[in-house]
Amino acid sequence: MTHQQSNQNLHWWQRGVVYQIYPRSFKDTTGNGVGDLQGVIEKLDYLNDGSTDPTSNDIPKSLGIDAIWLSPFYPSPMADFGYDVADYCDIHPLFGSLETFDLLVTEAHRRGIKIIIDYVPNHSSDQHPWFIESRSSRDNPKRTWYIWRDPKPDGGLPNNWGSVFGGPAWTWDEKTGQYYFHQFLKEQPDLNWRNPEVRQAMLDVLRFWLDRGVDGFRMDVIGMIIKDTELRDNPPNPDASPDLHPDDIFGRHLHLYNEDQDEVHEVNRIIRRLLDEYGNHCAIGELWCDLPRWVKYYGENGDGLHLPFNFRLLSLPWNAEAIRQSVEQMEAALPTFAWPNYVLGSHDAQRLATRIGSEQARVAAMLMLTLRGTPTLYYGDELGMENGVIPIEKMHDPQGLHFGPDRNRDVCRTPMQWTDGPSAGFSTTDSSTSEPVEPWLPVSADFESRNVDAQSAEPTSMLNLYRRLLWYRRATPTLQAGRYMSVDAGGDDCFVYLREHPTGKCVMALNFTDQSRTLSIPNIKNGSLVISTYLDRTETVSNSNLSLRPNEGVIIRIE
Ligand code: GLC
Repeated sequence: MTHQQSNQNLHWWQRGVVYQIYPRSFKDTTGNGVGDLQGVIEKLDYLNDGSTDPTSNDIPKSLGIDAIWLSPFYPSPMADFGYDVADYCDIHPLFGSLETFDLLVTEAHRRGIKIIIDYVPNHSSDQHPWFIESRSSRDNPKRTWYIWRDPKPDGGLPNNWGSVFGGPAWTWDEKTGQYYFHQFLKEQPDLNWRNPEVRQAMLDVLRFWLDRGVDGFRMDVIGMIIKDTELRDNPPNPDASPDLHPDDIFGRHLHLYNEDQDEVHEVNRIIRRLLDEYGNHCAIGELWCDLPRWVKYYGENGDGLHLPFNFRLLSLPWNAEAIRQSVEQMEAALPTFAWPNYVLGSHDAQRLATRIGSEQARVAAMLMLTLRGTPTLYYGDELGMENGVIPIEKMHDPQGLHFGPDRNRDVCRTPMQWTDGPSAGFSTTDSSTSEPVEPWLPVSADFESRNVDAQSAEPTSMLNLYRRLLWYRRATPTLQAGRYMSVDAGGDDCFVYLREHPTGKCVMALNFTDQSRTLSIPNIKNGSLVISTYLDRTETVSNSNLSLRPNEGVIIRIE
């Protein structure tokens, strides 16, 4: 492997760690049970107070992340909780105002935190003025801003494409006698990115936020924005599970014509050029495709996205060999200009600690923060928050409501657990009754023990492990910039790898089992074991045999 860079040459989005905030669920300052931007401002010091000394060995008080990615805060009817945007250039009053947003940018920048916002280019809300105009008549100038089609001659749907949220992706519009296309809910009509006016308008949206000081965009389902010109039928997926929900048409097809069309790279290049005009900004894209197609999103010679999200670790079986192979395959596939990245949690996924167990979630923290590439962390995973238990009558997520509790994404969107007080310190009290407010989703039952206050006071908590790892990474160029190599240490249920840089080497040894393991690792003699996931040992390594306890990961520094 040859990928190595001096860390002085790294951009902030390469060196740093991104932290995803789902604004509805982070901190409510208005007492309406829904989180808001003022809440994010109030918690900035928790994320990074801008003053902590990264070289100190004490466990710091603030987390030490470098950038926040905010899920959508735009005006929206909330059919898909903000991913149905009714105005791309404003803030939903639930979350605050443009003034609150400006204050957030200023306060974040004062602490050295970058702001990445969600950009939802594939579809708007059906309440967006553009769509209201588009559906008003067939000859409205905005008709071609969305994707309208006549029925087939036999009266059937224009093609066989399914909506991600169930049923066909076409809805009949009685008034104008045509179908419109929506890859997600019928309340989320797809914009027509083949229309230059749409491109212009959506680039103006980017300019609007760049002018307000944002540092980057996370672009929602970016691979879907361009569709096949002829809208051909998708072929059946021969590997589709027979247990799919009867309404899951999307899951039964290969997505040959509705996503990942060649012309999407041209759009990404245009977006990238715009960002480059503004300086050192970052383009992140949400992508769900195989490795060869995914790599193309970096563009030719790196003129595409900076970070096409790498979700592979989210769906792999949690074992050392599967994870090692995935890392190796990705490292091998990347051209030299492309920078890796990893994701282990999001507002669409199961909570990490629920999926792999809370012991392995500590190993996962070390993995994420020591691999080569930019990690994106999901709010609450630093506490080991687990899937919430959501009674059917409190379910909100349209996917869960359609397909049932197994696919309910509310479970990973429960309120952040700050304290052991009412609503886990997420909400305030109702100003008229002085009663505690009920948050929009129930707080998880474990909040009395699993919260920021309690874990701050417990030296070896998950939160303190994250803090220690994050600040160690900040102080260690090897972990930011060093090249990656996997190490054969005998046995395939531990993952051992080296990061190497002119300033030093680090070996990571991660035990993916719940039993002890003794490994033989060449060249670690006289190294120092600097962090264990148990946060209870630091020692000099005296020979090449290394014992790991069940579920233990360690970092060994070699000068
Ligand atoms: C993305 C978002 C998801 C949303 C969907 C439609 O996958 O992450 O939350 O429902 O796009 O916008």
